[in-house]
Amino acid sequence: MLPLAVGAAGVRAAAGETAPPPAEVPSRSLTLHVNGRAHRVTLDNRTTLLDALREQLGLTGTKKGCDHGQCGACTVHLDGKSVLSCLTLAAQAEGRAVTTIEGLAGADGALHPVQQAFIDHDAFQCGYCTPGQIMSAAACIASGRAGSDAEIREYMSGNICRCAAYPNIVTAILAAKTDVRS
Ligand code: FES
Ligand code: FES
Repeated sequence: MLPLAVGAAGVRAAAGETAPPPAEVPSRSLTLHVNGRAHRVTLDNRTTLLDALREQLGLTGTKKGCDHGQCGACTVHLDGKSVLSCLTLAAQAEGRAVTTIEGLAGADGALHPVQQAFIDHDAFQCGYCTPGQIMSAAACIASGRAGSDAEIREYMSGNICRCAAYPNIVTAILAAKTDVRS
């Protein structure tokens, strides 16, 4: 008689059965255009853009917070618009321009006005949410949605900051708005 704790695998083995083969993982090769560079990658079809950026391309500036579309830490730009990379499949980004926090500065290394404003106005503490905040802030300004404190707060409401740096983030965005448009 088999001991009670033998489990399903033990029962199969005792019966002379072999374990079923692991399910085949569908994968594909695709080209991701990130920060002006093309990257050829082979991915499980289910890979999110966030995981592709961090684990395949080594671009770890984009942060994984909740991995469920609730914190904004993973925000990147897709064709200039902000998206949550944890809710975007890498395959959906094929043929589109992805910009991450690593690609926001100018080609000469000069910080983007929003990056500089976050420094100037002390708009972060631990910094974990900051790449996502900056990417959303840049999109907020670019889309003309930074007209007032209230408008900025509404646009930025999907970006959570556990350090509660919100007042300084709003101040930084208002300051950067002038530089972006000048
Ligand atoms: Fe994507 Fe939180 S990690 S929204
Ligand atoms: Fe710490 Fe925002 S600066 S979570």
